[in-house]
Amino acid sequence: MNISPRTKLVGLIGHPVEHSLSPKLHNSLYEKYKLDYVYLAFDIVPDDVGKAVEALKILGFKGFNVTIPHKEKIIWFLDSLDTEAAIIGAVNTVKQEGGKLIGYNTDGMGFVDSIKRRGVELKDKSALVLGAGGSARAICVYLLKEGIRKLHIYNRTKEKALDLIEHLERFFPCTSLGYVAGEDINCVHPDLVINTTPVGMWPHIDVMPIENFEFLPHMTVVDIIYNPLETLFLKKARQTGCITINGLDMLVGQAIKAIEIWTGVKVDYDEAIRTLSEKDKSLL
Ligand code: ATR
Repeated sequence: MNISPRTKLVGLIGHPVEHSLSPKLHNSLYEKYKLDYVYLAFDIVPDDVGKAVEALKILGFKGFNVTIPHKEKIIWFLDSLDTEAAIIGAVNTVKQEGGKLIGYNTDGMGFVDSIKRRGVELKDKSALVLGAGGSARAICVYLLKEGIRKLHIYNRTKEKALDLIEHLERFFPCTSLGYVAGEDINCVHPDLVINTTPVGMWPHIDVMPIENFEFLPHMTVVDIIYNPLETLFLKKARQTGCITINGLDMLVGQAIKAIEIWTGVKVDYDEAIRTLSEKDKSLL
């Protein structure tokens, strides 16, 4: 890395950030693509988000990522949002342009890309989303934008799923949206199943977000968890013959989109995966 006074600054704010893979991934890609950028991570407590944003702005950061727990609160401090980020109500990527801060949600963009690059069509398909938190919200908005015809949501807390459905119905009135209870989960036969909950994440790797789910070979099954790379849920899906997509695809996908927003450069997906695995052998 050759840092000079012309090197452009980008980064991450969150709390905590010490285990984030983003600095490693971004800085390696900047080096590989000869982009004169450096990516730094900042641990910012919730009360300091406004001050941190002001500081990044004054320091001339070209942009920054935002992670837990600031993805919603950050909106207060931005000048505008792209359409999808506004519907999602959460931002994970900010660009500074002409002194203005614009918010995007590349979690959803990266999710859709990770599916499309596997040759899976989304238009007119049906999906089952497990979970109704921030990740589910971003994923649902992008699924609906891509033309998913029927969307079921299952969540441990039913009210939260119903709130999400009500919110989505306002923006996508022509799509069939509904809650599915655990006991009815095998009646919906979706084309696409997405786990957005942390169930199955290390160290509790022997559990699944829904027990007794009947995988069918035509299904594409996605888990946003990347530790482990293959959750028990994905393993069962793979053994049934489903196409499976793990959380690393989505992590890399959202980073590639952020780089494109900041620099205009389109990073190759396989190159990004290779770069990350060279830097972190535990990932592949
Ligand atoms: P994220 O931003 O990653 O989506 P979140 O907004 O906290 O995180 O949402 C986490 C989701 O996983 C929620 O849908 C949560 O269910 P509740 O609404 O019932 O809290 C779900 N979740 C978290 N831990 C879970 C568990 N042990 N079993 C089932 N669902 C769980």
